[in-house]
Amino acid sequence: MRLVDKSDMQIGTIYCLRRCCKWYKKAFLYVPDICVLNAFILYKDSNTDKHVPKTDSGEGSGGGGVRVVDVRSDITSQPSPAMRRTIMEAVLGADPYGEDPTVNALQKRGASLLGKEAALIVPSGTMANLIAVLSHCERRGCEVILGDLSHIHLHEHTGTTQVGSVYPRTLRNQPDGTFNLKEFLEAVRSEDFHSSRTALVCIENTHSMAGGKVLPMDWMDELGAMCKKLNLPIHMDGARLLNASVALKELPSRMVRDCTSVSLCLNKGLGTPVGSLLAGPSEFIYKARSIRQMLGGEMGQPGIIAAPGLYALDHVYPRLHEDHEHIQIIARAVAGCGSPAITCDLESAHTNILMLNCNMAYLTPQQLCQRMEEVTEEEMAVMGERVVAKMSPVNLTTVRLVTHLSITPEDVKALVVKMVYVIKELGKPKST
Ligand SMILES: Cc1ncc(COP(=O)(O)O)c(C=O)c1O
Repeated sequence: MRLVDKSDMQIGTIYCLRRCCKWYKKAFLYVPDICVLNAFILYKDSNTDKHVPKTDSGEGSGGGGVRVVDVRSDITSQPSPAMRRTIMEAVLGADPYGEDPTVNALQKRGASLLGKEAALIVPSGTMANLIAVLSHCERRGCEVILGDLSHIHLHEHTGTTQVGSVYPRTLRNQPDGTFNLKEFLEAVRSEDFHSSRTALVCIENTHSMAGGKVLPMDWMDELGAMCKKLNLPIHMDGARLLNASVALKELPSRMVRDCTSVSLCLNKGLGTPVGSLLAGPSEFIYKARSIRQMLGGEMGQPGIIAAPGLYALDHVYPRLHEDHEHIQIIARAVAGCGSPAITCDLESAHTNILMLNCNMAYLTPQQLCQRMEEVTEEEMAVMGERVVAKMSPVNLTTVRLVTHLSITPEDVKALVVKMVYVIKELGKPKST
């Protein structure tokens, strides 16, 4: 993966120059050139959340470069120069002794954002969820009720079972990411000599496999009320909770009001290179801390992860709506083609994820993704630029697109033109 590009090197050089000039300025009191340089730096700084060009040549893609639009996942976003600077300048300390001020600041901020007593930094969302389940389910053979399409169940290598001997009791996920609450009540098992005990309920918001859908608040409130009566904790996999909060115009703390614990990824929509937060009651976080150590997730000076996290809460969270708007533009363009080969449901596109349905009579998700990564001469003649779009096939009928921090409005325009071109090209039944 490319970590430094041309524009960052420019910023780095300017940064060094500025440092030298500070010294120079002190020595000679007034140097007009420095003002010019600083004005330029300020201009650059104010633009650092406009993302770095992603063409392979670093130039405009019309001039022979390739515009790479990577919408496989929001983990592919590149930190902006300003975010990188927070990493470079982070004040660090030994976190195992609680002495990393940047980590402490992020944990405090995360706890307050999520309305919980405490929060803990962890290397990944998967580890945050695993720690949460292990903290809630202290006895072997506990049951966790969760959706059959949840990330914890499908994409985390059954860690909760492998590591914690926790049994997943799945309920069918409905298209909106919820599960049926009548079926939920029927599934709950209390302490009984003959059977295992339901110890936890896990929900996911936004729901990834449901296409980034936001769980309805009234459903969460109803589930919350049921679990309160049953004395059953809820853990929310909130990898993209802030996208949900933006879409619903609701505070994250309100959205997780009835959840005992919540995980939040820093490296998805928030666009940092690595890290997650786990929040909950102080006693829960105390336990979580020792489980984190058991799993090898305690880190020496994770302030370098926390610093971009703090930056992202200030600067990236407020722009998440742009990613949602980009998905709407792409969804409308696909729907507007009216092609029987590739369709999408506009109503289902709530946040930064779009699911495209491929009609197998025309093409498979793999064929669509492969074609979107190719550039033909005919296409070049029509589009005037080389566009390579990277998307993910999810299953036999579905392709997933995820917009993020590094996808610019120009990328969206180019992606849409390419997509419409490819849909027209491939929208003929296989037999013809
Ligand atoms: C909903 C959801 N939860 C958890 C995770 C796991 O996060 P990580 O990749 O940081 O382990 C992901 C990752 O994509 C996710 O989409």
